[in-house]
Amino acid sequence: MAKILGGYFTSHVPSIGGAIMRGDQETPYWKPFFDGFPPVREWLAETKPDVAVCFYNDHGLNFFLDKMPTFAVGAAREYRNEDEGWGLPVYKPFAGHPDLSWHVIEQLVDDEFDVTTCQSMLVDHALSLPFELAWPDADAWPVKLVPIAINTVQFPLPSAKRCLALGRSVHKALSNWQGDEKIVVIGTGGLSHQLDGERAGFMNPEYDRFCMDNLADDPDALTRDSVRDIVRLAGSQGVEILNWIAARGALGENARETHRNYHIPISNTAAATMLLESV
Ligand code: DHB
Ligand code: FE
Repeated sequence: MAKILGGYFTSHVPSIGGAIMRGDQETPYWKPFFDGFPPVREWLAETKPDVAVCFYNDHGLNFFLDKMPTFAVGAAREYRNEDEGWGLPVYKPFAGHPDLSWHVIEQLVDDEFDVTTCQSMLVDHALSLPFELAWPDADAWPVKLVPIAINTVQFPLPSAKRCLALGRSVHKALSNWQGDEKIVVIGTGGLSHQLDGERAGFMNPEYDRFCMDNLADDPDALTRDSVRDIVRLAGSQGVEILNWIAARGALGENARETHRNYHIPISNTAAATMLLESV
């Protein structure tokens, strides 16, 4: 039987890629952020997952405003990173797990989620940076990937309640998968940030703390706010918390927080890292 080990959650600010390229991890600006990762890396080295199910949002690379699925699941043999800009390095490709992807898709459709299935799919910094942060010295990524993209970019967005239900349906799929893989779940983005408009630079530590405090034990608390209210509370890009909420759902009912790091600001973002272990 497959085993869901737990999950890590992290911001995915593109300038993290630049800091990695320049080797800036120990500089005063970057150290408080990168210091969040050794416990995640140690846990991954200990538990050795075979598969990563990653909930993230595409930022205009694979999907643009002309075609924007609410939920998209990758079912490709391989995913390449061709980030849309930011001067980020293009990382090594990600091996897919098409059989598990299709199993997840079948469960989601059974549970009445009308997902877009992607047998070819590019991934951006929202997926590549969390991998690079978790496995910084890997020659090839040690896990196969099932990517699940949630629209956090173009309104209308799915509700937090719907994203949590999506994650729970993915949990069902992972729990009845007949393979014997060990699975790590990843949620990326957030926490509060707004990149544009009158409130550019907006962050909200109080709301971020509410999200982090409830993620493990009461994820339903994060569904109390409508998407519009989440924009008001977290900023227009802070709605990336939807990826965290879905990822939390995929962990199943019980999860234990074993690590958290929070630092303001990285670029325009309140940057957070959390580790939750399945219990
Ligand atoms: C920033 C944060 C993001 O989540 C993103 O996708 C792009 C930029 C930022 O803070 O610069
Ligand atoms: Fe983002």
